[in-house]
Amino acid sequence: MTADEKPASTFKYNEKPVYTTSNGAPVDHPSKWQRVGAQGPLLLQDFHLIDLIAHFDRERIPERVVHAKGAGAYGEFEVTDDISEICSVDMLNGVGKKTPCVARFSTVGGEKGSADSARDPRGFAIKFYTQEGNWDWVYNNTPVFFLRDPTNFPLFIHTQKRNPQTNLKDATMFWDYLSTHQEAIHQVMHLFSDRGTPYSYRFMNGYSGHTHKFVKPDGSFVYVQIHLKTDQGNKTFTNEEAGKMASENPDFSTQDLFEAIQKGEYPSWTVYVQTLTPEQAEKFKWNIFDLTKVWPQKEVPLRRFGKFTLNKNVDNYFAEIEQVAFAPSHLVPGVEPSADPVLQSRLFSYPDTHRHRLGVNYQQIPVNAPLKAFNPYQRDGAMSVNGNYGANPNYPSSYRPLTYRPVKATNSHENWAGAAVSDLFDEIKSHDYEQANGLWQVLGRTPGQQENYVKNVAGHLCAAQKDTRARTYDMFSKVNPELGAAIEAATEKNSKL
Ligand code: NDP
Ligand code: HEM
Repeated sequence: MTADEKPASTFKYNEKPVYTTSNGAPVDHPSKWQRVGAQGPLLLQDFHLIDLIAHFDRERIPERVVHAKGAGAYGEFEVTDDISEICSVDMLNGVGKKTPCVARFSTVGGEKGSADSARDPRGFAIKFYTQEGNWDWVYNNTPVFFLRDPTNFPLFIHTQKRNPQTNLKDATMFWDYLSTHQEAIHQVMHLFSDRGTPYSYRFMNGYSGHTHKFVKPDGSFVYVQIHLKTDQGNKTFTNEEAGKMASENPDFSTQDLFEAIQKGEYPSWTVYVQTLTPEQAEKFKWNIFDLTKVWPQKEVPLRRFGKFTLNKNVDNYFAEIEQVAFAPSHLVPGVEPSADPVLQSRLFSYPDTHRHRLGVNYQQIPVNAPLKAFNPYQRDGAMSVNGNYGANPNYPSSYRPLTYRPVKATNSHENWAGAAVSDLFDEIKSHDYEQANGLWQVLGRTPGQQENYVKNVAGHLCAAQKDTRARTYDMFSKVNPELGAAIEAATEKNSKL
């Protein structure tokens, strides 16, 4: 193939491709346009101009409804330790085995142009291109989340975004929700610690948060939680530094990631698993399907099994990062979701939003396409661009049989049964504050961390209405009376409402 014959996007910078319209017709000057006479109106026949403007008019696709601001890169996962006695996932089978991947980090609540240093959880998403399909880890940088009832997700997110009337961020709305849904307290402890403002994406951990299952061919399984610990060390901004960075360089984390990879300083994470057998899970103090709880590491130790490294920047942000589509339901043989109701609802939400955000054929976009896929029963639809399975039958035809390979046995363990019920997680109990207090104690191990925590909350809470503030002090007092009192004193000093 000569340079002139290559598809437009494969030209390199040192080549001089011929400029054309979108249908490939050469154009002698990019700024020329057609009109009648010297001063007359434009001509509808000027396809070059109309083509250019009409395409520009459609450049924006919906931004992600959450996690709109983000940055990403390519990398690899390497198995460092054998876990074959608990795990049959092909990608994790064999020390030294490497699997390519793409990752995207993000903030949650802000819009696509918002500041990277905002106080917010960070998304930590990875798509592994395994030999048995794409496996997505759609994690956060905190081991817990604000809710355990899936219906609360849209309601909660609304309160962290903009007020429907003022279109402003609204501290009363923010704390009103949190203080009336106190199962969120453990995550609130994470959010307002200095880890709520990571220095940049390279310097934070990733956590599955949810329980998953590693299943074996014989049907046995263990419950697992995955942790990715940054090899760069945890590094955070103080509240003041984060605010300053938001105005000086709102894209700091994006730039930091790109430039580190550009310089060959490849960020990496050591990957661990916590495991519980079904018998241990039944006797465990904590409900393993409750996303607001961790599995204490002293009781359920971390076991190392891999290393995840980012080593290649993308060529095109829109094509490879804006259009990447991660979903907790993109699983591979050997791993299954648990019955955590939040995880179960996420299994639906992501492919649903991808069909809206990117279109029904989102899996055909190159960054999303698995190494091998053959699914000729899914046909047609907008933007089917991979040949649409050519002449292959679109039903299981006896004239063109496919191979239906047995998948390793699964699903033999949990025998759920019962009437269909309308459920709500159990009401808030005193033990819901216990792990939040655990984190408060962890903060006390490093000088200044508890003081920063109080300052970080007070700086935000002081803008909320009086009764919401009072309810919030009460919530923090249930974690620890000293914490509640300290937050009340610091907040009331600055409160204007
Ligand atoms: P441990 O003392 O065994 O572990 C405490 C963990 O806290 C550390 O391993 C570290 O996790 C994390 N940590 C340390 N400093 C901070 C900080 N400034 N902000 C947030 N996290 C920090 O105790 P437990 O496992 O019993 O957990 C105690 C508390 O620690 C929990 O209430 C939980 O909020 C928090 N934690 C627990 C995790 C878990 O999965 N068990 C994971 C992360 C936090 P890491 O090494 O991952 O950074
Ligand atoms: C992004 C829904 C909870 C991690 C998203 C998106 C939706 C969504 C619709 C946008 C996806 C896209 O446009 O591609 C939900 C729902 C939840 C939930 C309904 C609960 C019921 C969580 C939790 C975590 C998480 C608990 C982490 C443990 C992420 C990440 C992204 C994301 C990392 C960004 C992915 C990317 O970079 O493209 N979520 N989410 N979400 N969510 Fe959730």
